[in-house]
Amino acid sequence: MTLILWTIFGYLLGSIPFGLVIARALGLGDLRKIGSGNIGATNVLRTGNKPAALATLLLDSGKGAIAVLVARHFGGDAAAVLAGGAAFLGHCFPVWLGFKGGKGVATFLGTLIALHWPLGLIACAIWLLTAAVSRISSLSALLAAALSPVFAWGLGRGDLIAVSLFMAVLIFIRHSANITRLMDGSEPRIGRKT
Ligand code: G3P
Repeated sequence: MTLILWTIFGYLLGSIPFGLVIARALGLGDLRKIGSGNIGATNVLRTGNKPAALATLLLDSGKGAIAVLVARHFGGDAAAVLAGGAAFLGHCFPVWLGFKGGKGVATFLGTLIALHWPLGLIACAIWLLTAAVSRISSLSALLAAALSPVFAWGLGRGDLIAVSLFMAVLIFIRHSANITRLMDGSEPRIGRKT
């Protein structure tokens, strides 16, 4: 029963669409009608407002991390994994937006950092290195997500393989339009609209 409550707690926290809230508060418009239509930091950056994009990145990753840390403190390790996975799910399918949410990348990174910081930092490093070379946010996210279960296993954290795999599979599903654009060479570079 308690684990179900921690899962609901994580989901509700993850459901807060910070990108949408920030963009609206700053008068940047409805993110769902801008660029890729996504509610994440990459699309906030397409409005040209870098501080807003950074704030979205920090808050979207922070909600995953907070869900894990609070659940672990009061509920233990299983509660932490469930709350983190649920926060990620909440970002992708938020109840407040009719279950039409984001792609989960920042929340995935924050959740991983809080679950096991070396694994989270490796995922961030893969994202950053890929982004530095390719300048493509989605490709960086897909690579970091795909490799996270492998690194969970390599770091001896077999208990985190399932949650990493769950997030990776969902990130690939949420990036299906990006994958199509990557394959036909039309995926925009970071900060560009087209
Ligand atoms: O974090 C989301 C990113 O991987 C892709 O975002 O807006 O380019 O679809 P976007």
